[in-house]
Amino acid sequence: MSDQTLESFDVERLIPDFAAPLLAPLSPGRAAIEAAEVNTRHWISDAEGPFTPGSEIHVRETCRMFCETFNPYRPAVLDWPTLDPQARERIVSLPIWDIAVQTEGKARLRMAAYAATIAEPHMRNALALNAWEENRHKDVLSRMVAAYGIALASEAPYVLPRDVEWAYLVTGFSECIDSFFAFGLFEIAHRSGLFPPELIDTFEPVMQEECRHILLFANWLAWHRAQLSWWRRIAFELEVAAVWAFLGWERIGLARSMDADGNEQKQDNNFTVNGARAVSNADIDVRDLMLLCLQENDMRFSGYDVRLLRPQTMPALARFALRFMHEKKVAT
Ligand SMILES: [Fe+2]
Ligand SMILES: [Fe+2]
Repeated sequence: MSDQTLESFDVERLIPDFAAPLLAPLSPGRAAIEAAEVNTRHWISDAEGPFTPGSEIHVRETCRMFCETFNPYRPAVLDWPTLDPQARERIVSLPIWDIAVQTEGKARLRMAAYAATIAEPHMRNALALNAWEENRHKDVLSRMVAAYGIALASEAPYVLPRDVEWAYLVTGFSECIDSFFAFGLFEIAHRSGLFPPELIDTFEPVMQEECRHILLFANWLAWHRAQLSWWRRIAFELEVAAVWAFLGWERIGLARSMDADGNEQKQDNNFTVNGARAVSNADIDVRDLMLLCLQENDMRFSGYDVRLLRPQTMPALARFALRFMHEKKVAT
């Protein structure tokens, strides 16, 4: 599959036994939307006993969680509220839209490419659905960008990765990092009152979907590790360490990307550091942001069966960093 480019994305073409969800053509109404919101946040398995990583029950229940918490919203029927000039300017000037659209474009392809390599049918189907949901995120973003007249850099063609596992690991761990900060920033944006509540409501399912994605990724990771012989496990852990090194390098701003016309695009990979100021007028320091990210992270995962593994690294790093950050003394 190397060097293949896809102008239009079709998970079913990459994974022939995957059936894409059918969505209702019309807006489902307030009650159905609220029911779907509750359903997507809560899932407790009726299976008994522990979910030992790598066991049949672990893979089955992980994938069942993912499919049964699917939220059937349809991007085409989302309403884009009219914005006052200040709110519109605030949104248009956020330096995230190019990277957000392109990240979803890459994620859908990388997840589908990796899903196609998995023999286990439940996991293959769950990862294919994850890829389908990333494509839906791209659709939501594209519609929002069009609705508010946000100019985007041209997108380079999306290319199927040569190293499918590496690309999937980069995407999965990236989502773990970005979602952790996005949960906190989204709540700051919500509390700021600077954005219309309807816009916050529109993006809420996208946020929760990212939570489900990294929940699936954490359990895929544990399941995958349990399948490996000791020597393949060592090679895999070296690969994981290299992925983290790559992501660290990328996030300290050394990575550059080119658009389809060959122009260098300076992406704000450190948006999370500067983002709180962009979505709120309140003075939020790094310590408060970390605490809020942890709180939102815990809240978003709280409704899922405790036997499913949660992503650990970002919350652990945040807790570690907080040990060196002291509360600001209030001047008296
Ligand atoms: Fe996404
Ligand atoms: Fe995702």
